[in-house]
Amino acid sequence: MAALLLLFASLLISSLLHVSGNRLSVDYYAETCPHAEKAVTEAVRQAAMNDKTVPAALLRMHFHDCFIRGCDGSVLLDSTKNNKAEKDGPPNMSLHAFYVIDNAKKAVEEMCPGVVSCADIVALAARDAVALSGGPTWEVPKGRKDGRISKASDTQLLPPPTFNFSQLKQSFSQRGLSTKDLVTLSGAHTIGFAHCSSFQNRIHNFDATHDIDPSMNPTFAARLQKVCPKHNKARNAGSTMDSTGTKFDNVYYKMLLEGKSLFTSDEALLTHRRTKELASLYANSQEAFNEAFVKSIIKMGSLPGGQEVRLNCRMVR
Ligand code: HEM
Ligand SMILES: *[C@@H]1O[C@H](CO)[C@@H](O)[C@H](O)[C@H]1NC(C)=O
Ligand SMILES: *[C@@H]1O[C@H](CO)[C@@H](O)[C@H](O)[C@H]1NC(C)=O
Repeated sequence: MAALLLLFASLLISSLLHVSGNRLSVDYYAETCPHAEKAVTEAVRQAAMNDKTVPAALLRMHFHDCFIRGCDGSVLLDSTKNNKAEKDGPPNMSLHAFYVIDNAKKAVEEMCPGVVSCADIVALAARDAVALSGGPTWEVPKGRKDGRISKASDTQLLPPPTFNFSQLKQSFSQRGLSTKDLVTLSGAHTIGFAHCSSFQNRIHNFDATHDIDPSMNPTFAARLQKVCPKHNKARNAGSTMDSTGTKFDNVYYKMLLEGKSLFTSDEALLTHRRTKELASLYANSQEAFNEAFVKSIIKMGSLPGGQEVRLNCRMVR
């Protein structure tokens, strides 16, 4: 009886997965392009060696790709005469390193033309970026398809750094991602850099009675104000995401708990008991964070979209 129930449950689950169009698998290219992953890893490694900002850029690229029309490589498409693409939409200042995807695609196309999707390359590159930064590694389920649509106006669908908890929660749940995924994936802010404009709201004219967000550590805020004065002329000014900006560790959560996070959206993770508990867990255990991060990024990376394999990641035929 129990076995029958179990069988029924697993049939139900697998049919649900089928309906959602998700047929990603870790050995998707085992026959058709067995060396694809190695080529991507090599392209990422080469680029990261020459430019320390590459890993963070690739991780963020995967997030942006998946949150707009599913993980379909839409973030990679260039604008055309008649269409302004995602990458040219407003929150694009830290989106870069597209050439790394081009290099990886070129290497993969030489081995097995027309087989490996650009969206899969982005997912693999994000995994490699985390591993290269000292974070966990994981097997990437593959088989994503590339889409044909990329619109600058779609970037409105990305959660801005000024979002509060309920807005973030909604943005994630619309994509089937849980509150735990939200807390865990925000830990990606352990690597990389943010421009002043992304946290300006917290350090100047915060509200009617405070210049600085009172939830911020005052010393930390004062330091940010110095780097980012009110009338900021340096367009490239900003701060690393945490004090170890090239290392994928749990320092983001440690600083978060001390009032030393950059964005309203980071601080928002402390506004509910359960999410604060999770942040504490991760601050205390690198292992717990790593393990959860792998689960959540695989989940985010499985958001469906697209229908073909592009030959050039920047344009549709
Ligand atoms: C929870 C909602 C999120 C918000 C509101 C958010 C917002 C931002 C903002 C505003 C920046 C800085 C952009 C700049 O000033 O240049 C940033 C950077 C970054 N974000 Fe997020 N993000 C979120 C979630 C994520 C997720 C889920 C990931 C990946 C799994 C991610 C990975 C990154 C990385 C790696 C950077 C650094 C980029 C670089 O240095 O090039 N973020 N994020
Ligand atoms: C970013 O978006 C702005 C506003 O749409 C656009 O003017 C600018 O060219 C874009 N910058 C990059 C680097 O793509
Ligand atoms: C979050 O922001 C939305 C939109 O500005 C607002 O309606 C809501 O009241 C805010 N929620 C909290 C808990 O502050």
